[in-house]
Amino acid sequence: MTDKLFSPTSFGALTLSNRIVMSPMTRDRAGPGDVPTATMAEYYRQRATAGLIVTEGTQPCPEGKGYWRTPGIHSAEQVDGWGRVAEAVHAEGGLISMQLMHCGRAVVADNRGFKADVVAPSALPCPSLIPGPDGVPVTPSMPRALRTEELPAVAEQYAQAARNARAAGIDAVELHCSSGYLINTFLNPASNHREDEFGGSPENRARFPIMVVKAMAEAIGADRVGVRISPGNPYNGMDPSDPAPVFAALLDGIDGLGCAYLHVLDMQSPDFDTLQFVRRHWSGPIAVNNMLTLEKARTLLAGGQADAVSFGRAFIANPDLVARFQAGAPLAQASLEHYYVGEEKGYTDYPTYTAA
Ligand SMILES: Cc1cc2nc3c(=O)[nH]c(=O)nc-3n(C[C@H](O)[C@H](O)[C@H](O)COP(=O)(O)O)c2cc1C
Repeated sequence: MTDKLFSPTSFGALTLSNRIVMSPMTRDRAGPGDVPTATMAEYYRQRATAGLIVTEGTQPCPEGKGYWRTPGIHSAEQVDGWGRVAEAVHAEGGLISMQLMHCGRAVVADNRGFKADVVAPSALPCPSLIPGPDGVPVTPSMPRALRTEELPAVAEQYAQAARNARAAGIDAVELHCSSGYLINTFLNPASNHREDEFGGSPENRARFPIMVVKAMAEAIGADRVGVRISPGNPYNGMDPSDPAPVFAALLDGIDGLGCAYLHVLDMQSPDFDTLQFVRRHWSGPIAVNNMLTLEKARTLLAGGQADAVSFGRAFIANPDLVARFQAGAPLAQASLEHYYVGEEKGYTDYPTYTAA
């Protein structure tokens, strides 16, 4: 019997050579101007045997930058930098989707290196601390509420970012709708106290996220647009209770577009069966993530709950994760201290299994 894990599958316009996806991971190593560096190109090249790489969260516009040294996709230099990343991944036969992450209110203004508004659905601060330029967690900046008439322009920033990603040769884009960033704060009642048609009912709270997905799909074709969700995730001050109504409104609002894939970070809550829920509201391909083991990944694929499986931390120390799974080789452990700092150290210096 063929092992489903290593069999090809389609995500919209993309044909993945296997079903192992590299989950998006912020690594805080962009160069001046938030431009991807040659070291970043090397990091992604090393991991290009994944069926699909999803990049670290990348800001679609200056207002979207919240963390230290995250890359952008809104300047010509950033597009050139990503072009070198895409070229490196394609040279190894891989595919790459760019995660568009607008941090919304999860912003430390000092991390930016330039001045830009901190924007959110409502003028409510992010309650968690966020690392500042020296890595020490500090209170995030106070956001201002986006005005109703500004929202189409913010959706257009995402659409332009998607066009820029394609101009750089990136194969697809993934909208970050989780973890208390801009899109998630519109969906969640703890951060969205709006009184216009973008706040209140679950349908209203899903309206702006749907507008953004549609704008991205119109810009580059829905078959190159993915969406990442994590229903019930409390990160950055989100109310985790009762995720079903608003995520049903979101998924029902975009399912007909024919998007490339849905990337689900499953919270594995005993009160809410996320995977059963998404299968009811999503007819396209699904990649499932969170704390998977090889065995669990195989079970999800065999049971039809997932079309692909996504690994984050395992890809940090195992650039050849796919080959290791194929060979049944042991996995190396990543050093936590280098998740967000270290240039090459803890980033591009992990050997492959055969080299080790
Ligand atoms: C260092 C690090 C950075 C991360 N950055 C992002 C990010 O930019 N966007 C995102 O959606 N998830 C991010 N995540 C979450 C991962 O994509 C993934 O969902 C999580 O690590 C769970 O998967 P795993 O158990 O396979 O590691 C990050 C995780 C880690 C460890």
